[in-house]
Amino acid sequence: MKLLQEANLKGKRVFLRVDFNVPMKDGVIKDDNRIVAVLPTIKSIIDHGGKIILGAHLGRPKGQKNPELSLWPIANRLSELMDLKTSFSAPIAEYDLSDNLTMLENLRFDPWEEANDAEFAKELANKTITDDELGLYVNDAFAVSHRANASVEAITKFLPSYAGLLLQKEVENLTKIIENPEHPFVVIIGGVKVKDKAGVIAKLAEQADKILLGGGVANTFIKANGQNISNSVYDEDMLDACKAMLDKYKEKIMLPGDFVKEPDENGTFKILDIGGQARTDFANAIKAAKTVFWNGSLGDSEDSRYRGGMTSIAKAMNEVDGLTVIAGGDTVGFVKKAGLDKNISFISTGGGAALEFLAGEKLPGIRALER
Ligand code: 3PG
Repeated sequence: MKLLQEANLKGKRVFLRVDFNVPMKDGVIKDDNRIVAVLPTIKSIIDHGGKIILGAHLGRPKGQKNPELSLWPIANRLSELMDLKTSFSAPIAEYDLSDNLTMLENLRFDPWEEANDAEFAKELANKTITDDELGLYVNDAFAVSHRANASVEAITKFLPSYAGLLLQKEVENLTKIIENPEHPFVVIIGGVKVKDKAGVIAKLAEQADKILLGGGVANTFIKANGQNISNSVYDEDMLDACKAMLDKYKEKIMLPGDFVKEPDENGTFKILDIGGQARTDFANAIKAAKTVFWNGSLGDSEDSRYRGGMTSIAKAMNEVDGLTVIAGGDTVGFVKKAGLDKNISFISTGGGAALEFLAGEKLPGIRALER
């Protein structure tokens, strides 16, 4: 994989793919982590004499123009973060942020983007032409590198291609987790669906000393273990897979022993967070670790009453003397909002991409850079 530092950028146009798929409500950005994270790459390209054409997507417009998924609020935020004087108030095809920075509208408004279409990729590549010569491609969109999309994969066939600074950092930190973690190595996995997490649990279980489970993921393991979870969320299809993992890794998997439950009139209940003893047990395991990885909510994080488990985990991680890594939009959003991100070694911008990478899969966007 060639790195941005190796590229000769002077006088070149650079197609820079970033992931600006940020949470938004009514046109307001709820978390600008992914925008802030690529600023060093943008600045570095400009400082080295390159001109940037920025490509990004937002949501899943399925090849249709959709003003609600326009990138103009993101172009405005980027302009603010870079201290530029530009602003935009409506969807347009391109946002000229400065002489050397143009941002394209949501690439997924075109159906050929997700189809990984070669002609569309070539059109994007041709935007880098100056004086009849093609420019360069930089992928700094780790978070979408698990998608074989035209601006992520096919474009690398038409331009000399490099990894951006953020993509490089993501790969380096996540590789440390799978290849050579310092022990004790503790993994915390939560979230609703075991299906999305099974690959990562199985891969990390090879190296981890302890795997702490919470949320709907833990509920499915608990049910697979023959215990009553009443009306709590779980993944019916994954019961057998969880039983098999429990048998194989019984020394490593730690399930919460007590819970915060919400009872209803019929004598049934729902598990909504891990309980006090589980918080203490999990925190003790984390504080004794040299490497910690966390992905996924341990309770119903939408409701402030059920964030106690996540708060204990985040606090314990801040006390670790070693490598601590957090991935996944909900988990990262929670930790940042709670101000518990200060002593975390690395906060990944990847959701699905980080999980696939950690499950040992080769991401199409990264494979393309290695060609
Ligand atoms: C993400 O937010 O995880 C990436 O941008 C990928 O988005 P997608 O799941 O819509 O492809």
